[in-house]
Amino acid sequence: IPVDEFDLVIFGGTGDLARRKILPGLFRRFLSGQMPAGSRIIGAARSELDTTGYRDMIAEAVAEFGGEESNNKKGLQSFLQQLEYVAIDAKGEGGWYDLAQFVRQDVVQAFYFSVAPSLFGDLAERLHTNKIANKKSRIVVEKPFGRDLESARALNETLAAHFHERQIYRIDHYLGKETVQNLMAVRFGNVLFEPLWNNHYVDHIQITVAETVGVGGRGAYYDKSGAMRDMVQNHLMQLLCLIAMEPPSQFESDAVRDEKLKVIRALQPIDHHHIVRGQYDEGPDGPGYRDDAENPRSFTESFIAMRCHIANWRWAGVPFYLRTGKRMKARSSEIAVVFKDLGHTIFEGDEARHRNILSIRLQPNEGMDLQVTIKEPGPGGMRLIDVPLDMTFAEALGDDAEDVTDAYERLIMDVIRGNQTLFMRGDEVEAAWAWTDPLIEGWEARNDVPKHYDAGSAGPEDAMMLLHRDGRRWRDIKG
Ligand code: BG6
Repeated sequence: IPVDEFDLVIFGGTGDLARRKILPGLFRRFLSGQMPAGSRIIGAARSELDTTGYRDMIAEAVAEFGGEESNNKKGLQSFLQQLEYVAIDAKGEGGWYDLAQFVRQDVVQAFYFSVAPSLFGDLAERLHTNKIANKKSRIVVEKPFGRDLESARALNETLAAHFHERQIYRIDHYLGKETVQNLMAVRFGNVLFEPLWNNHYVDHIQITVAETVGVGGRGAYYDKSGAMRDMVQNHLMQLLCLIAMEPPSQFESDAVRDEKLKVIRALQPIDHHHIVRGQYDEGPDGPGYRDDAENPRSFTESFIAMRCHIANWRWAGVPFYLRTGKRMKARSSEIAVVFKDLGHTIFEGDEARHRNILSIRLQPNEGMDLQVTIKEPGPGGMRLIDVPLDMTFAEALGDDAEDVTDAYERLIMDVIRGNQTLFMRGDEVEAAWAWTDPLIEGWEARNDVPKHYDAGSAGPEDAMMLLHRDGRRWRDIKG
């Protein structure tokens, strides 16, 4: 879908996110012809750079983080011509006059706040007092969106003082991932799955987001956050919402977000016996969590597993097991829908428990497979085995799969198009904190000590027990 001509201002335009993700992503969109001639990207930050200096910086960033496309030197030169830079003082007056000269009022305007949340209020206010923003401008904000319900509310109020909700785009980059959207396509575009998508047929659901990286380098932030705030409150809960929500009446932003909100509000409180927190130990590939976080007494979790329940008709009695952790055995994110056993087998001598499992792989090897039971080939009689009906997108779609757009690229283009479907609404974020806050307060009040797990493992033993107690087991974490 084509986009209109735009001016995109990136506050924090020299920062890590801008250099790693936002600008390389925009460059790829530029190469695909999605940046209309005349559109401009205006980096705004504290550094006293000029536009030439900024273009050099971004050329380097694209070379480092831009993948194969960065070899397109001619394309890169043309892209850089669309970049400008303004040195700006978020808390003072410096630079605002210059910015006002740059940003046009007759094209789509977007302001990306890639800065600390403590600056959101200052930026929003100055965009107005300097008459840069208008009623149609869009602003983009990143996580962390607060660290609890109270701070998230305060941020929402700060933004609401200057912008209407329809102008605010809260990014959760998991919603921009190809497979995450495919989840909706599979559920609501096929006749096969939706009739089975409930507690009559589903035994349980597992959501795993395993990472191999540790927290080294961002320990100061992470140690105040932990896996619950860093990953569960946003990314895992978004996945949970998409898998569990009722079909929206149409694929439209508020219709989808209303359904997600209902899921969050139906989440039951979790008994602390159904939460396992972990911290990784030193391993052959690197230091332990406490060294990475530079806090020898840290009780912050780098791993969490939990059993959740959604109190509604569709999901009553179906556990949702969530887990995420750093320094695990493989980088692997997967949602698995495990269907119930057959009530009765007609095949003699078949005592094995055959189960259909739909697994949706977010990364790596994006795709899906459906485990089905078939006859073992050969003359040995009717023996049953389970095999995957595999759809790895790269294989199934050939060249088209190579065009799998990075989450950031997709989301930024959605901002320009004015499509909020893949962004979190203010009430959604607040409802998510309202659910996680008491859980966090609970373990803080108990002085809960995270369980140790070996770096490179599947997490603490207690996380295995969480499922064993229910007669179930986690799926293997495979890269
Ligand atoms: C970020 C978290 O939001 O997501 C990081 O702050 C985490 O801790 C990252 O590593 C994971 O993103 P992805 O896309 O690599 O799975």
